[in-house]
Amino acid sequence: MSALPSLGTPYANGPASGQSLPHESAAAQIAGAATYVDDILEVRGTLYAAPVLSKVAHGKLRGVDTQAALAMPGVRAVLLAADVPGHKMLAAFAGDEPVFAQDTVQFVGQVIGVVVADSMALARLAARKVLPDIEPLPAVLDVRTALAAQSFVLPPVAVRRGDAAQALARAPHTLQGTLEVGGQEHFYLEGQVAYALPQEQNQWLIHSSTQHPGEVQHWVAHALGLDNHAVRVECRRMGGGFGGKETQAGHLAVWAAVAAHTLKKPVKLRLDRDDDFMVTGKRHPFSYDYTVGFDDTGRLCGLKLQMLVNCGFSADLSGPVAERAIFHADNAYFLEDVDITSYRCKLNTQSHTAFRGFGGPQGMIVTEVILGDIARHLGLDPLAVRMRNLYSSEASGNGAQRDTTHYGMQVEGNILQAMLSKLEQSAQYQKRREAIFSWNKDQAVIKRGIAITPVKFGISFTATLFNQAGALVHVYLDGSVMVNHGGTEMGQGLHTKVAQIVADELGVPMQRVLSSASDTSKVPNASATAASAGTDLNGRAAQFAARHVRDNLAAFVGGLDGVGAGAVQFAGGQVITPATTRSFEAVVALAYANRIQLWSDGFYRTPKIHYDKATLSGRPFYYFAYGAACTEVAIDTLTGENRVLRVDILHDVGRSINPGLDIGQIEGGFVQGMGWLTTEELVWNAQGTLTTHAPSTYKIPTAGDVPAHFKVDLWPEPNTEDNVFGSKAVGEPPLMLAISVFEALRDAVANARNDGQALHLDAPATAERVLWAITNSSVAQRA
Ligand code: MTE
Ligand code: HPA
Ligand code: MOS
Repeated sequence: MSALPSLGTPYANGPASGQSLPHESAAAQIAGAATYVDDILEVRGTLYAAPVLSKVAHGKLRGVDTQAALAMPGVRAVLLAADVPGHKMLAAFAGDEPVFAQDTVQFVGQVIGVVVADSMALARLAARKVLPDIEPLPAVLDVRTALAAQSFVLPPVAVRRGDAAQALARAPHTLQGTLEVGGQEHFYLEGQVAYALPQEQNQWLIHSSTQHPGEVQHWVAHALGLDNHAVRVECRRMGGGFGGKETQAGHLAVWAAVAAHTLKKPVKLRLDRDDDFMVTGKRHPFSYDYTVGFDDTGRLCGLKLQMLVNCGFSADLSGPVAERAIFHADNAYFLEDVDITSYRCKLNTQSHTAFRGFGGPQGMIVTEVILGDIARHLGLDPLAVRMRNLYSSEASGNGAQRDTTHYGMQVEGNILQAMLSKLEQSAQYQKRREAIFSWNKDQAVIKRGIAITPVKFGISFTATLFNQAGALVHVYLDGSVMVNHGGTEMGQGLHTKVAQIVADELGVPMQRVLSSASDTSKVPNASATAASAGTDLNGRAAQFAARHVRDNLAAFVGGLDGVGAGAVQFAGGQVITPATTRSFEAVVALAYANRIQLWSDGFYRTPKIHYDKATLSGRPFYYFAYGAACTEVAIDTLTGENRVLRVDILHDVGRSINPGLDIGQIEGGFVQGMGWLTTEELVWNAQGTLTTHAPSTYKIPTAGDVPAHFKVDLWPEPNTEDNVFGSKAVGEPPLMLAISVFEALRDAVANARNDGQALHLDAPATAERVLWAITNSSVAQRA
């Protein structure tokens, strides 16, 4: 692992921010003393709920036999759609998901109802004794069938620039291909969980492991038929979310709340791992068909791309996910004449949802695969082909600059040319490529491959309205500070960064600032903590809140000392004027005595962004985060087994607020992306049942899979846009650096085949698929 930059590195921009301070919960987490929803001390009388799942992918729900379950001692109730007191459809934006299945079931794992019992074990046991009567109907289980049947959750969308058909007709070379890229289970360590507690006067407290407390509040109120103000949602932290708790924590909370409402008791609902796999949606699997045109140098001249998006049975976040995929099909490259169509296919599976990258990875990977194939087709170095296609200030064919995306946004602050060159040098790419060449010549069984791939990831929610945030900063009489903001903590370190920002704004030591649990009664209408924008949005809102308090104090102290507020400084726990130096605590006490407001709110909305939903064009992103990775792999040509040997990353987080946390995000994101593209395989059988629903069959990377050489360096320049402390978002972009693993594996397969033929490898590149790709020609489709 990489050494952390030491204190006082060039990243430093304040006593707290810029430092690799430990995560605010690290010590508690290591000691097992950090509280997750299931650790909250239970209130007397708490009951437990477990879901009843459909075993049929599509069918008519004729009735539910609850007798056997209800006969079990300790079982309190079986609740079905008819028992939902408010709206029977969830408050999801498309209104296409029932709280509990009504009349029809739409996937294996759909929740038909919940059993409520005196213990979790009993509830789970009894749930299996509930017998739904389902008349099977034909199920749609793959995207091509869905496309043929026009089975969509949302209508198709397209982005076009120039004339792709004409460009392809004129192109010196063309290639056609297909690619299948699998989904991904979130595998958060803490599964989905909610604990619903009745309060006085039909008010409700929900503890939810959610990235979006505001949405849980809204959904619960909607299902209970109450006003939003009657529901308070709290989340101190999640044991990981990764997008899986952006919307889908809401379901659990609603189920628990409906049970609590009916029985007038606190109810906890915690899915076991297998049920979590069966019930909740995953990263969207994508299928692609493309035709690409290019010249002798590998420069792209036309691209026609069709994306078939497996959305599952409902829309959920599939609209914005599919759009982000379109917005990232360029990755780092100028696509001049391009035609991208996206079909948001409705299938009888779990409803696929946000997952780190949010469609971005699925947009980028197909273009990276295409560029790798072009390089091999022309006998060029794939890195050279990638560099040749980067956005730049050069003029394009029609005179315009090669710096505007296919959706009309100018790419500013583009550092990729320099970044790729620097990584090529520091990772000794050329030298190693030669070494790999001679290794492959000498070795019969183990073949190696290498690839450098870039990332350019757009930061902001594409839906402009979500790019707002609020915060509260309270200064107590002893000078200690509490910050609360609309974001949630899922392990990424948001609370730590926000506390660092507030500490520096008030000039107090970090230990004086505490970040409190996310709570809908403190900051209302907060957006999901998602799109990597947690710190950008909430950090800025908290900075503004702290600044208001500081301004109050500065005006007050300036008055005392007869100087302007601008001459008052806050640093090192002191408040300094040209006349006096006082401790922060002393100033707070004096200010209180003089009735000065010691707390404030802060509000931030991202500037500059706009976007036309109808044409999918505009400036959806405030800025781009950049990165590049160089990965070397080895494959065993007899078994298809493969290993990542060496990874060198250069990643852009602007001026880091916390390099330690940022490097952690880069390492974690990369390894998670590596899992997506190598070992994590979701297999649905012919009946539509997910057969890989536990760690025994679904393989996430382990510590042993982390490459022995894993070097992460941070790009040293600040954000060129005015973002909090010059930083950039970091949560999602590094996941896509793992596309270099896939491209290195394809390089190794090509080296193993050594037949000059195009190769075909779908993702994930399991041992089985790698072996298949080595031994089969690309023209044949995989069975
Ligand atoms: N890191 C950890 N440890 N756990 C998580 O669940 N989620 C990722 C990323 N990093 C996640 C994580 C996702 S999907 C997003 S969008 C961002 O964190 C959200 O947090 P941020 O906006 O504060 O970066
Ligand atoms: N990213 C992540 N989550 C989201 C987005 C997005 O762009 N839009 C809505 N939810
Ligand atoms: Mo992250 S997929 O935007 O929650």
